[in-house]
Amino acid sequence: MSPHGLTTEDLATIALDLVGWSELPLDSAIYVPGQGIRRVLVGIDIGTAELLLARQLGCDAVVAHHPVGMRHRMAPVYRRHVELMMAHGIPREAAEAAIRERIEELETAGHADNYDHVVSVARLLNIPFLNLHAPCDEAGRRILQGIINETLARNPRVSLREIAEALGQLSEFQEAETSIRIALGEPDAPAGKVAMVHGALTNGGYAVARTYFDHGIDTVVYIHIAPGELARLRREGRGQLLITGHIASDSVGINPWIAELEARGVEVIRISGILGRFDPANRRFLKS
Ligand SMILES: [Fe+2]
Ligand SMILES: [Fe+2]
Repeated sequence: MSPHGLTTEDLATIALDLVGWSELPLDSAIYVPGQGIRRVLVGIDIGTAELLLARQLGCDAVVAHHPVGMRHRMAPVYRRHVELMMAHGIPREAAEAAIRERIEELETAGHADNYDHVVSVARLLNIPFLNLHAPCDEAGRRILQGIINETLARNPRVSLREIAEALGQLSEFQEAETSIRIALGEPDAPAGKVAMVHGALTNGGYAVARTYFDHGIDTVVYIHIAPGELARLRREGRGQLLITGHIASDSVGINPWIAELEARGVEVIRISGILGRFDPANRRFLKS
């Protein structure tokens, strides 16, 4: 770190570098730029109270994981589902069909937001403020898919329960109050082909999971799913679904970024659900 600390730009670049991306996706933004950052408040969700808390704690910047008041512009990030499905061998037309309805919902819902509420407070406090969403979620996806792939490579007949147990070794899941849940399927059934579906703004719900099942993927892993969407999948009674838990799973992707900040001498104060610590042994998964 320079003796003068990091800039908000540096904080974003460190996240992008984790996954080899060159620019911030539409669900991530620098709301109030700043420099000289040595102490950061980092949380999964940040609101106006946390901005004031940061000032009280003497922080130089605040970083949220979840986007703050910009649902009106972030729907295109959901299109990442198409790339993930295609990477698992699903034809483009089927992948596009699976996201169409939800994209329309996201765009419509976004118009309801007061996008300036929290950001206006950060501006008035003049406290550097940003959020980093898809880059951290992509880091998390790579780590989780990497663990799944290694588990399958050791034993191609590995069961759903054993996949859940392998993921559950991460400190983020060990510290979580939620547990990794087999939402669909028998625990002792072979996991088969497994897709870790994460890092595309939000989970793909019924339509994306069903599209994976229709194209030869035996098990989908989401970090969360709406109850109604799970009920639809259950009614059809096919496919296997693991739910890893929202806050623990988000932490899996945020922690490698925090580790990089700490390696540069930045003090990080964790709030709002950040669990566990990055295990440097998992750095190998971040490359692909
Ligand atoms: Fe996330
Ligand atoms: Fe999240």
